[in-house]
Amino acid sequence: MSELLNPADPVFARDPYPYYARLRERNPVARVELANGTHAWLVTGYEEARRVLADPRFSNVPARQAGRPKPPSAAERARQCLARHMLNTDAPDHGRLRRLATAAFTPARVDALRPRVERLAAELAGDVSRRLARDGVADLVDAFAFPLPVLVIGEVLGVPEADRADLRAWTYRVGSPADALEPGAADAAWSSLHAYFGTLIARKRRAPGDDLFSSLVTAPDEGGLDDEELLAMAFLLLFAGYETTMNLLASAALALLTHPGELTAARRDGAGRWAAVVEETLRHASPLEGTTWRRTTQAVALDGGTAIPAGASVLVVLAAANRDPAHFPAPDDFRPDRYLAAERPAPHTAFGHGPHFCLGARLARLEATIALPRLFAALPGLTLAAPPDTLAHRPGLLVRGPLRLPVRQG
Ligand code: HEM
Repeated sequence: MSELLNPADPVFARDPYPYYARLRERNPVARVELANGTHAWLVTGYEEARRVLADPRFSNVPARQAGRPKPPSAAERARQCLARHMLNTDAPDHGRLRRLATAAFTPARVDALRPRVERLAAELAGDVSRRLARDGVADLVDAFAFPLPVLVIGEVLGVPEADRADLRAWTYRVGSPADALEPGAADAAWSSLHAYFGTLIARKRRAPGDDLFSSLVTAPDEGGLDDEELLAMAFLLLFAGYETTMNLLASAALALLTHPGELTAARRDGAGRWAAVVEETLRHASPLEGTTWRRTTQAVALDGGTAIPAGASVLVVLAAANRDPAHFPAPDDFRPDRYLAAERPAPHTAFGHGPHFCLGARLARLEATIALPRLFAALPGLTLAAPPDTLAHRPGLLVRGPLRLPVRQG
């Protein structure tokens, strides 16, 4: 038996959790039919999610890379080159790429970004305030949650200030649904990003900066990254780092605006409670709704007896695993104090699990625990300017968060 799922349905996008709960109850590893006629296996149970993510029989290498004809256009070539990053590899390639990136992404390097994140958060909160004064309403996604992580990645990659508006515009176009843009705009942005990263790498080789990306570019040749791997790494850091963090910031702001008691408590209690708000948002509105697709390299019988055939597409639905009632009591409630109380909840899987566990988790937490208090301190009377149940959410199974978050000063 399989169940029909249309990820583009706006009702599903706004609240997919009842569907995931039904599926989990029936079978935490279930075969579903997608509206485009293909089939996939969705993993919605917490234990099962962790088991799949740690099992090498579930491959990260996209099937389409095998034996594909020569790519038709420059933009398509750029897209394919940039997609050859570590999240799309298995051992042993993955281990080599990950070791090099981990050596650059040290806790000390990430923590050194703190003053710059503080400055950016303050500047962007100022922008929101100016928009509110001018227009009476502002979109927190467009004015705050989107630019902050893009600009932080600009710091990580050592993109000069003068180029950051371009980076922001290309990223926006590459990440937008094609029908939201003028024809050709996404292709042009892919080619621009590819060309820009090439120039950036050459520049860092000539004159390395103190940014994290320079240390990857200038790693010793032997065992270091080649140019294509560097291009893909720059792209992965940008894309793994911006869309997820944008959704974390937007979903946390939405949760606080709809749970004013929690906002008051965070303002009153300070850092520890802001950290709990961030953890609870990661669990309750996991910004990566699903991991990247996995493909079974052989038939797999999971412990519960479910047999997945070889070559099957498998999606671990982190957003569902993080609402598994067997591990999180009252899973649909937004209750940051579960991360403060003695109840010690199970670790959420919002940053994944196993060999591909998020490399940027520390940076994402740093950004969110700085940005949210700065935003709400700069704009004390903020209220939602639309009923929460009318807000559209990102369609699809991979990312989760509101598309827009209109606010006004109360
Ligand atoms: C991988 C979540 C922010 C860099 C992942 C994975 C998840 C995740 C679930 C594993 C995906 C899979 O197994 O298919 C998140 C969330 C974030 C966030 C929820 C923010 C709230 C960041 C940031 C960066 C980053 C800020 C860096 C700038 C990476 C990289 C990987 C990754 C490089 C690939 C690791 C590998 O393949 O070994 N992230 N991420 N992430 N993330 Fe993040």
